[in-house]
Amino acid sequence: MSKHRVLVVGMGKRGKHHATHFHAHPRFEVVGLCDIVPEPLAQFAPSVGSPRTGTDAAAMARELKPDVFCFCTLPSIRSEMIRIGVDCGARLIAFEKPVALTSREGLEIKEMLSRSPAKVVVSHQHRYGKHYQAVKQTIAAGKIGKVHTVYGTAEGWAAHMLSHLIDYSMWFNEYAKPAWVMAQAAGRHKLADVHASPDYVGGFVQFENGVRGIYECGGGAPDVPEVQRWWGKNRIGAAGTEGYAEVYTGNGWKAVTSHGVLSGDGAMSYDLDMPGYIQDMAAWLDQGKVHPCCFANAYAGFEVMMGTFRSAARGGQVELPLTEPADELEELKKALSSAPLQVTLEESRKEYGG
Ligand SMILES: NC(=O)c1ccc[n+]([C@@H]2O[C@H](COP(=O)([O-])OP(=O)(O)OC[C@H]3O[C@@H](n4cnc5c(N)ncnc54)[C@H](O)[C@@H]3O)[C@@H](O)[C@H]2O)c1
Repeated sequence: MSKHRVLVVGMGKRGKHHATHFHAHPRFEVVGLCDIVPEPLAQFAPSVGSPRTGTDAAAMARELKPDVFCFCTLPSIRSEMIRIGVDCGARLIAFEKPVALTSREGLEIKEMLSRSPAKVVVSHQHRYGKHYQAVKQTIAAGKIGKVHTVYGTAEGWAAHMLSHLIDYSMWFNEYAKPAWVMAQAAGRHKLADVHASPDYVGGFVQFENGVRGIYECGGGAPDVPEVQRWWGKNRIGAAGTEGYAEVYTGNGWKAVTSHGVLSGDGAMSYDLDMPGYIQDMAAWLDQGKVHPCCFANAYAGFEVMMGTFRSAARGGQVELPLTEPADELEELKKALSSAPLQVTLEESRKEYGG
């Protein structure tokens, strides 16, 4: 069987992770690397088999006709990149979270993909961590009883972290469909960031299977004292009729069950998480086994994220799925007061200016 030929676009931190792990997998061959800044490409290319390099993603995609079009650019140019992936006829498009920054762009992406046969994967790869897997197995084995609540908190801002919190908690709830969202937000500082977000957003989600989701993301979220590292201070879990199970991104997991207290180690690591994520792409292409990070799962979480922004800007419950496009970031810019954020942790002050 010939290898799947991969073009990776956007060779920053995540592009390098992707190229490295595609190169390391026997079913993939990296045939192209693209970035608008050429210098680092030449330096990096020999470590992944010296593929073609270039600065124009559309031209490279047309010329190389890759089986896998992977892009790891910043979130502002998602639909442009999806169009290139669809037009070049790639069998699989792999891209970074968040799906988009507004529902307007998300709906456009969904529409484009609905007319394409490409398999699509979004990088919520933390789930491959052994501590995430342990929590999932504990919940799926019924050890916390019947799940009634899933939750997630993070100190990092929404365009970085909310998509992760929502995706893994929805996984713990077997991806039940979300019915509505209601949320509040504060702080305008990060609305000007390349990962544009309110500084702090908190919201409630009702899932169709009766489970409640509760999320807090940004500088007003509670501390996770189990973890030292600021970006790893994320608590994601589920509570059920007989206990709870939760993962701490930067430091292990814990479950309190009717059979006792369970716990274990684990810390988010790109090098540990990427091989499984890439292997599941090979399994989807070769055996038709749908990737756990498929677009359908990611898009369901994206709608929850946009629903929280929309509710925070407009008030009230936002019904899902979203059907009308909106620019939630513009709405938040108008709705949020300019008062600095009241941060929970002193070390958050440098990010949120609060
Ligand atoms: N899944 C995760 O765990 C995780 C972790 C960090 C970042 N991310 C996401 O990954 C994405 C990229 O983040 P990063 O930290 O790698 O960013 P980065 O800034 O390190 O890299 C982005 C690269 O894209 C290049 N680029 C920009 N426009 C381009 C274009 N039109 N064509 C080709 N290249 C272009 C830039 O020059 C840069 O090298 C973001 O969406 C971010 O949210 C995900």
